[in-house]
Amino acid sequence: MDSVHLYTRSAGEGLPVVLLHAFPLSSAMWLAQREGLATTCKVITPDLRGFGGSVLGEDEPSLDVMADDVVRLLDREGIERGVVGGLSMGGYVTMALCRRHPDRVLGVILADTKADADQEAARSNRERIAATVLDSGSSVLVEEVLPGLLGQTTVQRRAMVFGRVRGLVQAAPPGAVAWAQRAMAGRRDSFDTLRALKVPVLVIVGEEDEISPRADAEAMVEAVPDGRLAVIEKAGHLSAIEQPEAFNRVVAGFIGELAGGSPPRG
Ligand code: MLT
Repeated sequence: MDSVHLYTRSAGEGLPVVLLHAFPLSSAMWLAQREGLATTCKVITPDLRGFGGSVLGEDEPSLDVMADDVVRLLDREGIERGVVGGLSMGGYVTMALCRRHPDRVLGVILADTKADADQEAARSNRERIAATVLDSGSSVLVEEVLPGLLGQTTVQRRAMVFGRVRGLVQAAPPGAVAWAQRAMAGRRDSFDTLRALKVPVLVIVGEEDEISPRADAEAMVEAVPDGRLAVIEKAGHLSAIEQPEAFNRVVAGFIGELAGGSPPRG
């Protein structure tokens, strides 16, 4: 395996909390978490390979490769165990990491994601998008992926948030988009991994998420031995961007729980 060094933005001190971004974004999506959670914990937000400041490398597409990249980042930072979480694709990577390196995880955050593998139709759609971006650039993402990322409330009332997410989507490099689509198409079902988890799990879902709706979140909470569900109102698939204060509040509460204290206020 190629040793890809993940470009990472971090903020704060204390319990390490790694947050892995959605497709086709980058660590830029966690700006409000770096700002809002830095007084609670050490927020570590890498760019997954190919996105943002991280190179793609030569490996075949695989979520396992992405998970191992994150573990190498933990090694580099001298972190034996930390909270690991992700939103959507970041959640798939988190589940792969939990399967491959369960001893590195103190707690898990799964936001707007799902544990099942793709059906055949979803796999072929990913291959079509991969081939299209490689052939004619990332505009297909703006046409086909962007509309599902945000909830109706954000689309109708928050033009600045919509514009920011569109900018992030447009910046996605075609090679990384194709690689990640193929990696996600090949991912396995993670319910066994969830059932085997020995650490607390926080599942978050935007109430308007249509890509990984509430039923997917509830299925994950039911599978894990120690789970709790937080539903974020007026948010769609990108709950961390759409309602950052509510998102940060539930994450801070979870971290307070893990640290054995009462949840921080505010
Ligand atoms: C994401 O937001 O990361 C994507 O919706 C994940 C996916 O395509 O399954």
